[in-house]
Amino acid sequence: MKKDLILILDFGSQYSHMIARRIRDLKVDTFLCDYNISISHILSIKPKGIILSGGPFSVYDNESPLISKNIFQLNIPIFGICYGMQLISFIFGGKIERSKYKEYGKSKFIIDHSNNNLFDGIPKESIVWMSHSDEIRNIPKKFKITGHTSSCKIASFSHINKDIYAVQFHPEVKNTEFGISILKNFVFHICKCTPNWDWDNFVHNAIDKIKKRVEKKKVLLGFSGGIDSLVTAYIIHNAIGNSLNCIFVDTGFLLKEEEERISFLCKKMNFPIKIIDAKNRFLSRLNGVIDPEVKRKIIGEEFISVFQEESEKIKDIEFLAQGTIYSDIIESSSKENQLSHSIKSHHNVGGLPSTTFMKLKLIEPLKELFKDEVRKIGKKIGLPEEMLHRHPFPGPGLSIRIIGEVNEKKISILRKAESILLQELKNSNIYDSVSQAFIILLPVKSVGVMGDRRTYEHSAVLRVINTEDFMTATFSNLSYEFLEKISNRIVNEVDGINRMVYDITSKPPSTIEWE
Ligand code: XMP
Repeated sequence: MKKDLILILDFGSQYSHMIARRIRDLKVDTFLCDYNISISHILSIKPKGIILSGGPFSVYDNESPLISKNIFQLNIPIFGICYGMQLISFIFGGKIERSKYKEYGKSKFIIDHSNNNLFDGIPKESIVWMSHSDEIRNIPKKFKITGHTSSCKIASFSHINKDIYAVQFHPEVKNTEFGISILKNFVFHICKCTPNWDWDNFVHNAIDKIKKRVEKKKVLLGFSGGIDSLVTAYIIHNAIGNSLNCIFVDTGFLLKEEEERISFLCKKMNFPIKIIDAKNRFLSRLNGVIDPEVKRKIIGEEFISVFQEESEKIKDIEFLAQGTIYSDIIESSSKENQLSHSIKSHHNVGGLPSTTFMKLKLIEPLKELFKDEVRKIGKKIGLPEEMLHRHPFPGPGLSIRIIGEVNEKKISILRKAESILLQELKNSNIYDSVSQAFIILLPVKSVGVMGDRRTYEHSAVLRVINTEDFMTATFSNLSYEFLEKISNRIVNEVDGINRMVYDITSKPPSTIEWE
């Protein structure tokens, strides 16, 4: 049965995917698409409501994205957010101006019209998250102002007799106190959606789409052993069976435990995984390389060469599949969103233009999802708890946790230190209460004294963070007792490290990995 659906027109906001995610959290299907979708396409989708997202533009810019007024004749409820609000105002003849005070961050929002469906059950005053530099001066005819903040007189409005609503703030971000309630009001009170969508629907749809797209051709999947690639492999295997070819590239930059896990998975999963031993070629290409971006680029290229070679061995190969998720895309490429800068290359193999490079078409069934959503699917399809809550491990592995030049000796030092950390996190029952924990080996040496003997060895950093989506993170508040235990064990047991420090920075301004 077709599920009720909310269509989101994307005008390029960094929060557009967050809107989609919030709607999925309400158990309602959603489709995030380019703002210039045609009216006939909208009609074929039959959405119960349309959300116009925010975006980095000003409606008066020459190249600002606009939509046809006909969308408002479809009798489908419409909700404009930030740029979406300004667009509604512009289309209906309101006046927008660059505001004197740019407003970024928290503001107190005051509801002027309590008999507005959108604000049902929301207190007269609440905190909202603003992020805009334009503001509406005059609302169009037939609209009424429904709320304001101290510096923005028109912070929300609605049509007097049609289901058209708009807010200047972002209800989809957590900092807006009653943002979820506002979205709920739109989805359930105004659009009358039934909350009957769930992750089974997502999986079935994804399987269906892949089946139709791939037909009798073959798919190559870069398998990393993490939850994203496990769920991706599950979906594709269910769609096309053994036309899926999984390969795992052993770069030599793996943790000891990762190697063991992969051989366990190879035996356990019901699809074959081919392991490619590429240790020597990766290590030799990093010889003398210090710059983190150059390291990432080289590793990306090497991954691609391995995939290229493997793909040439498979007859009828036409697709490359990856377990890319939304945070991989937003941080490693700027093409997805004009506002976002590229932070690091190659968060996944998709960081490189593999479509043109390898002439293979990409399949990325999870690319719109957030990490915790992938975990929900993992749970649905019966992956064991241990796999669901395993900390992420980056594709380039230990090479980006060895600052400066990478060599075999340093890899062996870091592997030992990481192994001790993992044991202690598990022994102390801390593993599941933090999101990611690892060690960084520094090229900085310092003097120490062990058993009356002078030492001059590497310093290493303990990095432990908590996060919901890996886009922002805070360092974890660990006990001194635990920190002391880690420091003692690593310095005593790992030859080559004689000093440990704890990283107490959050993301932003730092990133989670050091390189
Ligand atoms: P950063 O360092 O960008 O990390 O704050 C965010 C999350 O992404 C992981 N990460 C990667 N994962 N390939 C991956 O599959 C990569 O190249 C990569 N770089 C960072 C990182 O461990 C953290 O969980």
